[in-house]
Amino acid sequence: MSFGLGDLLSCLEPAQAIEPIAAGAVLLRGFARERARCLVAAIDEIARSAPFRNMVTPGGFRMSVAMTNCGRAGWVTDRTGYRYEPADPMTGRPWPPMPRPFRRLALEAAAAAGYTGFGPDACLMNLYEPGTRLSLHRDENERDLTAPIVSVSLGLPAVFLFGSHNRGGRPRRIGLESGDVVVWGGPLRLVYHGVAPLAEGEHPLTGRRRINLTFRKAL
Ligand code: SIN
Ligand code: FE2
Repeated sequence: MSFGLGDLLSCLEPAQAIEPIAAGAVLLRGFARERARCLVAAIDEIARSAPFRNMVTPGGFRMSVAMTNCGRAGWVTDRTGYRYEPADPMTGRPWPPMPRPFRRLALEAAAAAGYTGFGPDACLMNLYEPGTRLSLHRDENERDLTAPIVSVSLGLPAVFLFGSHNRGGRPRRIGLESGDVVVWGGPLRLVYHGVAPLAEGEHPLTGRRRINLTFRKAL
């Protein structure tokens, strides 16, 4: 049996590592790194039929994060509220289907975090540019709160704010890089989380952008 350079590199520097964050939440470092290029290509393709757009909150604020979706349901916000919709309000067409490799990645990441049998039906795609932030919020519009959230980071690094049980609490600051995956559920399913303003930068895969995918069981 031969021991090639690839094996040597992978045992010297594992492509991924599991870092517990708190009971119910783990950071899977580099879990999607090898698939990142394909994921970004698929996202660009999806955005051709369901473009990224800045949605408006029920309070009338235009979000700085641009969003789109794929899957059977898509998360939307407008003056009437936050909800999931089977069709894209911008085009009237159903959201693009969730590519099978997306579903597989979400299932594998959830299982690696201890949540087996995850079957996401919604994938919210967030686009950040330098300066863009996402304020603390909870993912609470899903019908099935027993399923976890699987969150995949691509492109520019970000500081993920995570872990307070109320909006005023001080969250942990977790540096996320392209290919990192965070999974949370169980006792932390309704935890507050957000993203600090994105720093200026340029990434070989995405240029001046960070893209985040969050997989949910919404329906
Ligand atoms: C989200 O909470 O919807 C996205 C989090 C992130 O961009 O990392
Ligand atoms: Fe969220």
